[in-house]
Amino acid sequence: MSEKKRALVIFGSPRYKKSASYHLGQHFANGLKRAGMDVEEIMLVKQKINHCIGCFTCWVKTPGKCVHRDDMDILLPKIRNADLIVYAIPLYIFSVPGIVKDFLDRQLPLVEPYLVKKDGITSHPIRNKLKKTDFFVISVAGFPERSHFDAMVDMFKKKTRPADETYIGDILIGGAERMSKDDSQDEFKALYNYIEQAGFEVATNGAVSEETQKLINEESMIKSENIDTFIDIANKYWDSLMPKDYSQIKIKKSADAKPLKITDGGMATFFAGMSRIFNPNAIPGLKAVLQFNLDKDQYHLIMDEDVCLAYSGPHPNPTTIIISTADTWMKISTSELDGAKSLMKGLYKIEGDMNLLINMNKIFSEKEKSDTSSEDISVESQKILEK
Ligand SMILES: Cc1cc2nc3c(=O)[nH]c(=O)nc-3n(C[C@H](O)[C@H](O)[C@H](O)COP(=O)(O)O)c2cc1C
Repeated sequence: MSEKKRALVIFGSPRYKKSASYHLGQHFANGLKRAGMDVEEIMLVKQKINHCIGCFTCWVKTPGKCVHRDDMDILLPKIRNADLIVYAIPLYIFSVPGIVKDFLDRQLPLVEPYLVKKDGITSHPIRNKLKKTDFFVISVAGFPERSHFDAMVDMFKKKTRPADETYIGDILIGGAERMSKDDSQDEFKALYNYIEQAGFEVATNGAVSEETQKLINEESMIKSENIDTFIDIANKYWDSLMPKDYSQIKIKKSADAKPLKITDGGMATFFAGMSRIFNPNAIPGLKAVLQFNLDKDQYHLIMDEDVCLAYSGPHPNPTTIIISTADTWMKISTSELDGAKSLMKGLYKIEGDMNLLINMNKIFSEKEKSDTSSEDISVESQKILEK
């Protein structure tokens, strides 16, 4: 019986498992396993790997053996024995994170000091290489354009060629920050299926098929005409994470405005329902007005610390305005449409602070609420807002 082929999947995000590259690498590894490969996963952030100190002891005094005694003692034989090495890593300063760089530097004992010419370029001979290895890179970046990966890909191509490692391909995904978040995982289900398929194809045919690569690109690449929207959304996202002092904010309601009731019918019932599932623990001390401009109608929700009331009409000073058709917004509310993707496609627009939109599921969450009855809350809320 022939031995199973061995794959080493190297995860290089310092974020450990809460990382985009981890999620992608996991699905790719699943594809390798499905194709029958023996897969070993290495989380670099959990390894003890000292910096190379450049002493060349591994070349001259103790050929093949480094001065450091750490986890590289176990990892180097695994590299020598692998049929396929996959790096699943984030892009850091156009290159690899420090923990990955240390791991690469510490592979120096795998080559000899002598200079030889290979394919017309000077390189070092490989020491005791057991087999030829295929090499694949999965990487993610914050910026949306593919060109940001150029220097990193070039580095890996230059590194692998003399080491008898064949660079067989890569999956490079820009604008990937959302992919690291636990609560965004559903958004990427289709992409993850294609990534798993790519792993399966690499294990069986040694390459990702054109068709799968195309599907991955379609699902993940931010088209050039959408980059301005991406930048706008990203900036609003970062802004929403900045420290906020709600204590200074005073929220006003217009004197004659009456809160919507659940019995009012139509959209009024919908927004009155939203106010009832307001979770004051989601963002403690929150003071904000979320306005909806849906078709020709306007509604707003006033959140003032632990109370939330819904009104029809516009507010004079809304924190955030969601501009949409009622139909689109209802589809997003019922998860028929994905909120983030719809925003990117321009199906609706946001004005003002993104914080409310990003935290919408937490702020309006039935299950998070205390067991106080809705009626109690309405009466209580009204009293506080009238203060
Ligand atoms: C120190 C540091 C440097 C970064 N440098 C770049 C960069 O040069 N280009 C880029 O597009 N993104 C850069 N990023 C963003 C990361 O690539 C991005 O957050 C990625 O989604 C993280 O992936 P992960 O979740 O797998 O760790 C950098 C992030 C950090 C923390």
